[in-house]
Amino acid sequence: MTSRTPATAREARGSAFAGATGGDPSGIRDEPTRPKDTTANGSGSGGSVPGAGITVTRHLAAAERHASLAADVRAGLTANPRELPPKWFYDATGSLLFDRITRLPEYYPTRREHAVLAANAARIATACPATTLIELGSGTSEKTRLLLDALRKAGVLRRFVPFDVDEETLLRAGQEILRSYPGISVHAVVGDFERHLAFLPGSAGGDSESAGAGGVAADRRLVAFLGGTIGNLRPETRGTFLRALRDQFRDGDALLLGTDLVKDPARLVAAYDDSAGVTAAFNRNVLSVINRELDADFDLRGFAHVAAWDPENSWIEMRLRSVREQEANVRALGLVTRFGADEQMRTEISTKFTLEGIRAELAAAGLGTSAQWTDPDGDFALTLAVPA
Ligand SMILES: C[S@@+](CC[C@H](N)C(=O)[O-])C[C@H]1O[C@@H](n2cnc3c(N)ncnc32)[C@H](O)[C@@H]1O
Repeated sequence: MTSRTPATAREARGSAFAGATGGDPSGIRDEPTRPKDTTANGSGSGGSVPGAGITVTRHLAAAERHASLAADVRAGLTANPRELPPKWFYDATGSLLFDRITRLPEYYPTRREHAVLAANAARIATACPATTLIELGSGTSEKTRLLLDALRKAGVLRRFVPFDVDEETLLRAGQEILRSYPGISVHAVVGDFERHLAFLPGSAGGDSESAGAGGVAADRRLVAFLGGTIGNLRPETRGTFLRALRDQFRDGDALLLGTDLVKDPARLVAAYDDSAGVTAAFNRNVLSVINRELDADFDLRGFAHVAAWDPENSWIEMRLRSVREQEANVRALGLVTRFGADEQMRTEISTKFTLEGIRAELAAAGLGTSAQWTDPDGDFALTLAVPA
């Protein structure tokens, strides 16, 4: 997988930039990358221009990404038990593998969430006729088109703001959306939603497009957080995240939250341990990322994929199990790490919720649930929440 990454990345970039609009052949206009540069009150370089290519704000440029990865890997490999945060699965290869996961027969969440969105997108657009759609952890933004279509039909949508750690997938998706939705501007944000929420476009720390005269908000924002990604955060981190998001909201803004629901553990485990081995490759990809970006020498064949249901915490855990005693040298950190045979390292939790539990967590963060929908089988939920 490591050796395939550069080629995959190049191919992805090629398709991302092909046929882009605007003066720059890439169609991508860089915004200043320092967060404080996106806080300008005037339009200046902070606004995006409809039809002129996507604008990009980078909170995680190469140096920040490297420092953040290095800190997480050092902390995770020296912890007991070891643990790596799931955000580092997602380089271009990881995002491609996740995209393949979403099409697997065992992986029901994407299909179910798509069904809930398809059935309710018009209601969502009526309840929150947003001028800006922000998508956290946007990935390929495929399902998001249902929301974009509904908001465009409502006649109000002006811009789309995808926000993700994986710049390559983010820019490719942003370009594709820009081409498909003429007249809608796309402002991509490369960032970590655990650290950079204060710089969301339209927030006090973000850009200026929302600030109307006399403090009246001219922009109304719908923040979509789909795919069950919030389940990757531990309960205390979820609380911090939701409160931070609530702090950015003004009246009229809303959160659309996609969450996977508790169900038969056998189905849950199968969804994270598919027979084709795609989830296993996705899990090991975090080691490829560390090998490439931190000059490490993890042997991917030395780690087996594990998916287990934890009923106490109501989450699926993905782990990597060392199949033998081994060591890996993470040269960029000056760290040699040793694994015993069968030692396991956690790489992801994926929490499964109840409808009441979601409402309670939102309420604790100052967000009131205005609507909640599930698919007919009750597998997946979408919750629309507004400042309480
Ligand atoms: C489970 S995928 C979901 C993708 C898409 N939203 C969907 O519903 O199919 C998680 C996405 O969130 C992104 N992501 C994970 N952790 C992140 C973080 N801390 N900050 C920003 N993006 C993150 C990943 O790059 C990936 O695109």
